Amino acid sequence: MKRSLFVLALATTALAQSPNVLSLLAQQVGKTSDPATQRNILRGMNAALQGRSGVAAPPEWDALAKQLAASPDAEVRELALSIGIVFGTKEALDSLRTIAADTKATPAARQRAIESLVARKDAGTAPILRELIGKAGPLRAATIRGLASYDAADTAGLLLGAYAGFTAEEKRDAVSTLAARPAWAKQLVAALDAQRVPRADFSASLVRQLRGYKDANIDAALDIHFGKLSGTTDKQPEIAAVKKWLTPDFVKAGNAGKGREVFVRTCAVCHKLFDAGNEIGPELTGANRTDIDYLLQNIVDPNALIGADYQLQTIELKDGRILAGMTRGENANTLTLRTLAEQTVVSKTDVKTRTVSPMSMMPEGQLLALPKEDVRDLFLYLASPQQVPLP
Ligand code: HEC
Repeated sequence: MKRSLFVLALATTALAQSPNVLSLLAQQVGKTSDPATQRNILRGMNAALQGRSGVAAPPEWDALAKQLAASPDAEVRELALSIGIVFGTKEALDSLRTIAADTKATPAARQRAIESLVARKDAGTAPILRELIGKAGPLRAATIRGLASYDAADTAGLLLGAYAGFTAEEKRDAVSTLAARPAWAKQLVAALDAQRVPRADFSASLVRQLRGYKDANIDAALDIHFGKLSGTTDKQPEIAAVKKWLTPDFVKAGNAGKGREVFVRTCAVCHKLFDAGNEIGPELTGANRTDIDYLLQNIVDPNALIGADYQLQTIELKDGRILAGMTRGENANTLTLRTLAEQTVVSKTDVKTRTVSPMSMMPEGQLLALPKEDVRDLFLYLASPQQVPLP
């Protein structure tokens, strides 16, 4: 008996498209009170229904769902809920909202509940997210991403109000959520103006995204903080050309160990990745490394957007020496400068002139200097989730 039901459950993966089969399976679940048998059939149904929407519940479902909600078996209860969500039943949505808001439920269960509800754009979930946004903890990233799905006028105010308390990752999520809708984007730019969101939190691709709105107020603010876009520095054609051959499939066929070699040769003087490299530029371990677009923007066009901390300064000393580097600290008497070679403290009385360059310390044209195979291997290495051995 059990065996035949197991076979039946497997068959559902293909067959549950048909209302008759769903009905038959619901009847089978209802006939038994053995949790193991119920689990088998429900797993099959759930797998068959994943990712589908607009599926009508079979007529038996309402009564069965009530029975299953009282099951002593946690997996049976969760499977029944997950199936109920696909059917869009009110009970399933209510239960999930309860879990999402329940401070006694595990964070993992609450996150799953939030993600299922947001995937359905469930209107009843928005107030729960609003409530959660002010609370630090493991649910906040899912909450921020979840808010992106609801077009509410006050979302920008909520995110910006809580922004200062976010972790670095949450800030990234929040900024990209805000950039996603024009009304929010305007408030994001206003927050930049008011220094509530630091300039450094705006990546080059984010600024490009904001420019895409072609909104005069947004552009005016970006001009002030990031400089005007000038036609001559347009690196988009070069990026487009590289993208033509640097496809995800081509990258996948590369060799990450050799890519590490390329990194050590060309990037590690300035960047740390995993456990090795210098810290002249930002550490790349936490960067958005699997995103080819992000990497290309930053590598091909480093001057599109320069974090204030990374602007190149040229210091001419009274004794005739010239130092070039980035300011790492400053007080009334001294200036701490990070040059490619060292960190050095300069007395201000020794300084003759000080010029801030609009150029990044990160050089342009690095990819043009490499054979395609090296670029491919480098990108594969950059996307690696962990350190790989050198070949
Ligand atoms: C001479 C130093 C230097 C070298 C060499 C260099 N970079 Fe950079 N890089 C920087 C600096 C400084 C920044 C900070 C961004 C800026 O220009 O404001 C940066 C920014 C980046 C960013 C954006 C990081 C962020 O958090 O926004 C990426 C990605 C990056 N570099 C990748 C590379 C790769 C890959 C290589 C090797 C092909 C490389 N860089 C070589 C100095 C360097």
